[in-house]
Amino acid sequence: MPSGSADAAAGPGGPRPPAVELRDVVKAYDQGFRALDGVDLRIERGEFVAINGPSGCGKSTMLHLVAALDTPTAGAVLVDGSDLRTVADLSAYRRNHVGLVFQLHNLLAHQPVLANVELVMFGTPRNAHERRERALDLLGQVDLAGREHRLPGQLSGGERQRVAIARALANDPELLLADEPTGSLDSVSAGHVLELFQAVHAGGVTVLLVTHDHGIAAAADRIIEMRDGRIVDGAPGGGAADAVPAVGPA
Ligand SMILES: Nc1ncnc2c1ncn2[C@@H]1O[C@H](COP(=O)(O)OP(=O)(O)OP(=O)(O)O)[C@@H](O)[C@H]1O
Ligand SMILES: [Mg+2]
Repeated sequence: MPSGSADAAAGPGGPRPPAVELRDVVKAYDQGFRALDGVDLRIERGEFVAINGPSGCGKSTMLHLVAALDTPTAGAVLVDGSDLRTVADLSAYRRNHVGLVFQLHNLLAHQPVLANVELVMFGTPRNAHERRERALDLLGQVDLAGREHRLPGQLSGGERQRVAIARALANDPELLLADEPTGSLDSVSAGHVLELFQAVHAGGVTVLLVTHDHGIAAAADRIIEMRDGRIVDGAPGGGAADAVPAVGPA
């Protein structure tokens, strides 16, 4: 949970704030073009939400704002009840609270796969041995056992994507944000990634991902449809959102 909690109404045993909340969020670029045009969204803890919509409708922009990789022009983004504008250490927020799998995976080109996963665990309580064990375990889960010592440039695009997924899970995030995580995977690998996301979700992690993959969308509690910088379907409620386990007293 990020520090600097401003809006959290949750006392012990009280109602928990949503995992993610967007309040009338606008992201404007040059000439007044609005990549996001007044988005209201509430995602409960432990919910698995898929975002769908045509190219350019603002899906990645929205994920970037939740990841605190960019700031809204207007409106507020709250994570766990904290307005991200009040969070002093955003890199700690990203390292400790969220796992990110983005369209450009930003792997360190000169570091082998194993180090790419281990490095995000620096500054956490895990010691070197635990970091290695964790990285090997995750790389096995994404079917990359045996490729740990390769450089990213010696992997296929889909394999690089799976390294990014292992890296995103390394610090046991409370919130997993993924942008087309199976976009360049064959159907077998995509199936394994879906199983991994389902396991993560079953462990209580909130999952928010952009996908056109019907298998992933079918596994989600709720599908949000976006058009032209707006949410046109799926918020609030809808889908199977009522399958979300209740947290605290109703
Ligand atoms: N830095 C920028 N400057 C100006 N316009 C931008 C910038 N970044 C994104 N946009 C525009 O904002 C809109 C939304 O972009 P975004 O990347 O969120 O789309 P998307 O829904 O993720 O699309 P895709 O499915 O192709 O990944 C697009 O029209 C894009 O051209
Ligand atoms: Mg995108």
